[in-house]
Amino acid sequence: MSGPLGKDLLALEPLSADQINLILDTAEPFKEISERAIKKVPTLRGATIVNLFFEASTRTRISFEFAEKRLSADTVNVASSGSSVSKGETLVDTARNLEAMRIDMVVIRHGASGAAKFLADRIESNVINAGDGTHEHPTQGLLDLLTLRDHFKSIKGVKVCICGDVLHSRVARSNIHGLKKLGAEVAVCGPRSLMPNAIDQLGVTIFDRIEDAIQWADALNILRLQLERMTAGYIPSLREYNRVFGVSRERLDRAPKDVLILHPGPMNRGVEIDSDVADGPHSVILNQVTNGVAVRMAVLYLLSGGQPQLAEAAKGGDR
Ligand code: CP
Repeated sequence: MSGPLGKDLLALEPLSADQINLILDTAEPFKEISERAIKKVPTLRGATIVNLFFEASTRTRISFEFAEKRLSADTVNVASSGSSVSKGETLVDTARNLEAMRIDMVVIRHGASGAAKFLADRIESNVINAGDGTHEHPTQGLLDLLTLRDHFKSIKGVKVCICGDVLHSRVARSNIHGLKKLGAEVAVCGPRSLMPNAIDQLGVTIFDRIEDAIQWADALNILRLQLERMTAGYIPSLREYNRVFGVSRERLDRAPKDVLILHPGPMNRGVEIDSDVADGPHSVILNQVTNGVAVRMAVLYLLSGGQPQLAEAAKGGDR
């Protein structure tokens, strides 16, 4: 089935500002369901969703599963280890075999950039990209946008700096596309060795010093160093990285205003972010995680053909 977003959610780059706002607006009424004693509504009863996670995940996998279960969908989780992928079965064969069991949607995380689109082009089920290589992580971008909107009321004109390992970050790409479409001012900050070659073509400001980024920004979205994707010596050492680019309380105290702190997780405390910043008064890191469930409920609802104006009524259920 397809709704106002089309068949799949693969990236934020192809979405319009209206489509992104539609998802964020649809997420609003779904937030309240997770605050109820009985966190379940019948909206997706009868739908079958497969979560194909071929890379490690804590937040995204569990968040999707909660979103699906809270909408009463039937869910199955498949990891590469323990499935026939470990015997050499291809991604498409795995998905086609699942489709033969009459599924409706696939949520996929994969280490290869483009894997979600490759799958979406070959199966009839709706496909949601839960992170593909270094390409995009659209629901992370959406939950970051929702968290910023909660705080600043509007994204337009907000100055957001994405700090750290932009080169390997699908979160950075989704954030840059989403933020720019909604009218934010976007910057990046990190070592030049961790910046993509064509980063300036995305219309972002580049800061080489974290002190300058902090002076400029209303919000920092701080990225983890993706050591598992690094094939060369991009930084001299983690200690050196923390000394030059780490976001510390001391650095934030020199800012002209309070700076909102986001991090997509998992965090490397003491590397890109110090603990007293991660746990400090301006951190919304756990709000991001909470918003992730509502955003994913909204995406599941809209892709299943749900009407945005009926999202409030779709909440139904026991309170
Ligand atoms: N933010 C994020 O994608 O976290 P996980 O890798 O734990 O899913």
